[in-house]
Amino acid sequence: MPRAILLFSFASAALMLAGPPAKPLSDRDLGLSRTSVFEAPAPPPFQAEGSAPGEKPLPKRINREAPPVIPHGVSDCLPITRSSNLCMDCHAVPGPKKKGQATPIPGSHFVDLRRAPEARGRQLAGARYVCISCHVSRSDARLLVGSTYRP
Ligand code: HEC
Ligand code: HEC
Repeated sequence: MPRAILLFSFASAALMLAGPPAKPLSDRDLGLSRTSVFEAPAPPPFQAEGSAPGEKPLPKRINREAPPVIPHGVSDCLPITRSSNLCMDCHAVPGPKKKGQATPIPGSHFVDLRRAPEARGRQLAGARYVCISCHVSRSDARLLVGSTYRP
């Protein structure tokens, strides 16, 4: 059958172009930690930020859309529970921002994107309650992967 022959010759041409099979990856090259996947390496130690709120200047914002890094220590504020959210005690203040005061929680955090995405609610949206699911406190931890992104 001429059709089958044609298909066969295409398939063998593709095989010839593909060259020798690639070398298999070593298990050390599979993850980010460059150790065997059978080991459980301890992460490199890092110093968590210990400064008090307002003590250090705000780091440069990479992007207005990204959650800003928390410039101060947060160990006293954790865990965030239903009855205790110290982040809100300081940050749930009316805007505009006053000098020496915590940055007010922005309007975007009062919009319930799932149920009423057009309206600004009177309360903080539930999805924003656990601040540290988006905002991280700064630390001297080394990046796992470098980035060349510049704003
Ligand atoms: C005792 C009051 C206080 C508490 C508690 C507190 N903050 Fe802050 N926070 C501040 C102050 C003051 C600043 C610095 C404002 C400045 O320097 O202009 C700040 C800065 C920030 C910023 C940077 C804002 C920006 O404009 O870049 C973020 C984000 C933030 N805090 C999040 C948090 C989160 C999340 C928590 C809880 C884990 C928290 N804060 C707890 C007072 C507080
Ligand atoms: C779902 C992710 C998410 C959660 C949870 C969240 N934030 Fe944010 N936050 C953001 C993003 C994204 C921005 C930057 C864009 C914007 O302003 O909406 C931001 C901005 C901010 C800013 C800077 C406002 C400004 O005027 O520059 C403050 C302060 C802040 N958040 C505080 C908080 C606090 C306090 C909580 C917890 C009560 C919290 N956020 C919870 C994502 C989040």
